[in-house]
Amino acid sequence: MNAVRKAVAKGWLKLPGKLKSKLWWLALPLSLFVISESGAYLRLQTFIRLHQTPQLNVPNGWPAPHYDFADNRVTPAGFELGRRLFYDPILSRDNTMACGSCHQQFAAFAHLDHRISHGIGGVNGKRNAPGLFNLAWQPNFMWDGAVHNLELQPIAPIENPIEMDEKIVHVIEKLNTDRRYPAQFRAAFGSNGIDTQRVFRALTQFMGTMVSSDSRYDQYLAGNQSFSAAEKHGLQVFREHCASCHQEPLFTDYSFRNNGLDRSPPDRGRADVTHAAADEGTFRVPSLRNIELTAPYMHDGRYATLEQVLDHYINGVQPSATLDPLLAKGIQLDAAERSDLLQFLKTLTDETFVNDPRFAETDE
Ligand code: HEC
Ligand code: HEC
Repeated sequence: MNAVRKAVAKGWLKLPGKLKSKLWWLALPLSLFVISESGAYLRLQTFIRLHQTPQLNVPNGWPAPHYDFADNRVTPAGFELGRRLFYDPILSRDNTMACGSCHQQFAAFAHLDHRISHGIGGVNGKRNAPGLFNLAWQPNFMWDGAVHNLELQPIAPIENPIEMDEKIVHVIEKLNTDRRYPAQFRAAFGSNGIDTQRVFRALTQFMGTMVSSDSRYDQYLAGNQSFSAAEKHGLQVFREHCASCHQEPLFTDYSFRNNGLDRSPPDRGRADVTHAAADEGTFRVPSLRNIELTAPYMHDGRYATLEQVLDHYINGVQPSATLDPLLAKGIQLDAAERSDLLQFLKTLTDETFVNDPRFAETDE
């Protein structure tokens, strides 16, 4: 503006008198122009987007996460790339199946109504797709804990012949010929190139920041919501009978146990990985967060409802050499305890999480 004033003062620039007196009106559009042309506007935009991009914030009272984002910093470009990959069937052999086909947001990223997940060509898998949330706290993955690193996890479904049945090298080739992926990878990782590690790191930025910590239970603990008498009693029953394995606040202690589904388990579970007799038929204790949304239940999806799950713990626990001692006598609950426990389990549903637009599929 000074330059304009100076030019007018020196007579280099002649402005009609009316405009001259209103010269300061030019200041606003002119300074907006200057801001948008200098990098400041871009930096402001990045700043705003960064604050929309989820980061791994540890909720009050939770333990430290297991996965460390220090080496894989979550950025808007990395997160968006991860989101696109997660929902893109390009990751499967015949380009029909995405991670998001079996992990649906409205079901807390489990596979609704699928007892065991169907992969490519409708071939049956052998296990139920678990919900995906709070993965950064998980020390290992899969019902049997076969995978130890969240970053390495996606290789399993991509290369599994009954899931996506694709080869990762071929995925990389396909990504390289895509119109937008090469630029997206450059934006996310600062240099040209698409490789396995970058694919996995981007997916991890997306999956690893899916934190579910805003259920009614969480709001109740924070003092922002009240519980009905039944829900309060249900929480008490839960703490007495279930929390030794489904430990708060993550609702699992991440141990592997046999909760008595079968006398002689057809799926060896953890023993597939360790080959130890003591692990025969043991599976990772699953989180019960969002449990109302992730039916059907258990590693093979054998129970369609939470009522059936409670029937199992009350009447159906099967003895075997590896049955967890805590369940040796089943769990005795009277009718009121049972129905209040059920009500409590429904307070673990996190509507904020399943409706969070940042984790949804985009139309891009
Ligand atoms: C055909 C359905 C299907 C597809 C496609 C699929 N998954 Fe899965 N996912 C499963 C099943 C089933 C399991 C459990 C497998 C097991 O425990 O043996 C699982 C387990 C997982 C787990 C471990 C969760 C836990 O709690 O241990 C993660 C993470 C995961 N999938 C991410 C992905 C990603 C990323 C993709 C895409 C690259 C993907 N999945 C594609 C069905 C699928
Ligand atoms: C001894 C440890 C233990 C106790 C006690 C226990 N559970 Fe479990 N629970 C497990 C294990 C292990 C699994 C997974 C079993 C499988 O799929 O093979 C499981 C699975 C479940 C599932 C299915 C979750 C899913 O995502 O499919 C629900 C629901 C459940 N338990 C609720 C409860 C309730 C309610 C109680 C108390 C009445 C309870 N559990 C007590 C160990 C336990």
